[in-house]
Amino acid sequence: MTASSTLPMTAKPFVSKDAFLSSMRRLASGVSVITTANKEAACGLTATAVCSLSAQPPRILCCVNQKGETFRALKSNQNFCVNLLSSKDQSVARRFAGMDDLNGEDRFAEGHWTTLSTGAPALLTAVTSLDCTVEAALDYQTHAVIIGQVVDVRNENEIDPLLWLDGAFAELGSKS
Ligand SMILES: Cc1cc2nc3c(=O)[nH]c(=O)nc-3n(C[C@H](O)[C@H](O)[C@H](O)COP(=O)(O)O)c2cc1C
Repeated sequence: MTASSTLPMTAKPFVSKDAFLSSMRRLASGVSVITTANKEAACGLTATAVCSLSAQPPRILCCVNQKGETFRALKSNQNFCVNLLSSKDQSVARRFAGMDDLNGEDRFAEGHWTTLSTGAPALLTAVTSLDCTVEAALDYQTHAVIIGQVVDVRNENEIDPLLWLDGAFAELGSKS
């Protein structure tokens, strides 16, 4: 049986870009800054496409646009650090999303940064930082799925994450 023959007769075979985006706007996501560095330079971007892949072994994945500066650097450095932002770091998120027209090293002028094991910048105020080496990078059209081997973590005690929902930054109202 082919995949198409399993579709109900009424199913539409294609979903428009607008319909897809409208659906994805309803997905509440944590906001991370993914950084990478070598001895000479660091760069990074804001990302919501980050998730856990497995706990044993500890692996995460993220999806990064291959046209950007950060992807090129990450591929060459073979390291990255995922910094899950706190609600207080909305301006850091804007900066690393290119909303202030800054690129490369200039994005790091705001925030307090350290390094863990790989040398990729870790934000001291992040809710958590996951320091990774690149285990695999799978090309998929505009983006690449990057699988990271988590080699170090740093956790803040307070968990107050920055969210992205319906095209805007948001904060968690309550937890239960
Ligand atoms: C809330 C938000 C989430 C984003 N998520 C991603 C993402 O998951 N992957 C990605 O490649 N770009 C994402 N972007 C876009 C990048 O942050 C932006 O294009 C950045 O300037 C790329 O930097 P670079 O040129 O250094 O690669 C996101 C932007 C925003 C505002």
